[in-house]
Amino acid sequence: MTGSPRVIDSLLHPEKMNMIPYGPEGMQVHLDDMARRLATPWQVCMIRARQLEGCNLPDGMVIDPACGAGLQLAALSNVLGKESLGVDIDESRAEMAATNQQLISDFLGMQCNAKIVVGDGTKAPEVLELFSAENKFALFYFDPARPVGSTTHALDEMNPRLNIVLDAWKPYLMDGERGPALVLDLSPLLSLERRGEVESLVDERWPGINRTWQWASRGSGRIDRLSLWLGTAADPDNGRRFIRIPPDQFSDPLELNSVGHSIEEPDIQKIFPRKGKQLTILDSALVSSGMASTWLDGVLQNEDRADWQVTVGRRPIVTHGEPLSLKHELDPLLIQCTGKVVSLVRTTLDEENIESIAEKAIDCGFNKLTIRMGLPPEVQPVLQRGLDRLLRRSNGTKKGFITRTGADEHLLLCAEE
Ligand SMILES: C[S@@+](CC[C@H](N)C(=O)[O-])C[C@H]1O[C@@H](n2cnc3c(N)ncnc32)[C@H](O)[C@@H]1O
Repeated sequence: MTGSPRVIDSLLHPEKMNMIPYGPEGMQVHLDDMARRLATPWQVCMIRARQLEGCNLPDGMVIDPACGAGLQLAALSNVLGKESLGVDIDESRAEMAATNQQLISDFLGMQCNAKIVVGDGTKAPEVLELFSAENKFALFYFDPARPVGSTTHALDEMNPRLNIVLDAWKPYLMDGERGPALVLDLSPLLSLERRGEVESLVDERWPGINRTWQWASRGSGRIDRLSLWLGTAADPDNGRRFIRIPPDQFSDPLELNSVGHSIEEPDIQKIFPRKGKQLTILDSALVSSGMASTWLDGVLQNEDRADWQVTVGRRPIVTHGEPLSLKHELDPLLIQCTGKVVSLVRTTLDEENIESIAEKAIDCGFNKLTIRMGLPPEVQPVLQRGLDRLLRRSNGTKKGFITRTGADEHLLLCAEE
């Protein structure tokens, strides 16, 4: 951007129309390749907007001082029924944002009440000078640009900087029941230390404000979004939230809440899994959010307890006495597999031993065993094909998986029910 900030008009360029990512059929927006990469999937935009609907926000507009192509801003403005102001320093992106506000409101059958400015989102007075009416904000939403492939996720890599943007807009934020309402969309890989730094920046400006960290996963064991909800946008009873975004874009997400703010690593119990025990490989995103114990409390039966066998990596494992009692339709998405330990085989899984392992599996009544343990990528398919071939001669009906709980020498053959 060069020169002073200015308001951008919505201008339709039919050649720039693209399907909105993860949105309803027929919903089209302006996005170039870069904006698409930066954009929040529409499904996520809508889930967040609906979460905020229940927050009793104060009167006022929504401000997004780094709005990109403006998808999240459009969801917030339309769902919350609020006027909105988006700012982006990149002129072509601000143009996309302006047009997208109109396109999205039209698609939703709503009136468009958005203003988009090309300008520096850290210069609030300059931006606000463009408007004659007094502008007060009910919600501050911030999703800064970050360098691709960053390994440090340092706060000074954010563009614009969090501290500067908070100072710029603080005087214009309205107080709700629990102070102003802010949502900060941060890097999903922010370490505990970096999260502490963000909290310090917030506390310097609003000491003791309510806060809820939200981890959101779309599956594949990954945390896709980490956001900090503050003040009137926070859940006053819960410091942490895990959201599993459903595969079907129209369903509600699964939401887990927990009181604590800090993340405790689950304790490893060196209680070796015995025959007859249940073994579950959990979704690694759930475990890395620190909310697995909260979820397990809800799905373990009666007095049953979970013993942690593996807490890190792609296949976190717990053992327990009874099968899990899954209630929510999305609960199955929080496990990779679960079954009863039928046999412990003291050997290594390799080409040399595959026949004896298959024999043992046939003795136990298996006709299908999926390998669910860390193996070199070139070895895994070879061993899986070998096992499949050898188990073809089985008359058994059990299906299950084969895994290991760590550096010990036992393979665990587990039957799924
Ligand atoms: C991650 S994108 C926002 C994506 C958006 N939330 C969406 O849903 O489409 C971050 C944006 O910040 C903008 N930006 C970087 N520095 C800025 C500044 N000083 N003022 C305003 N915008 C800035 C970038 O141009 C980029 O478009």
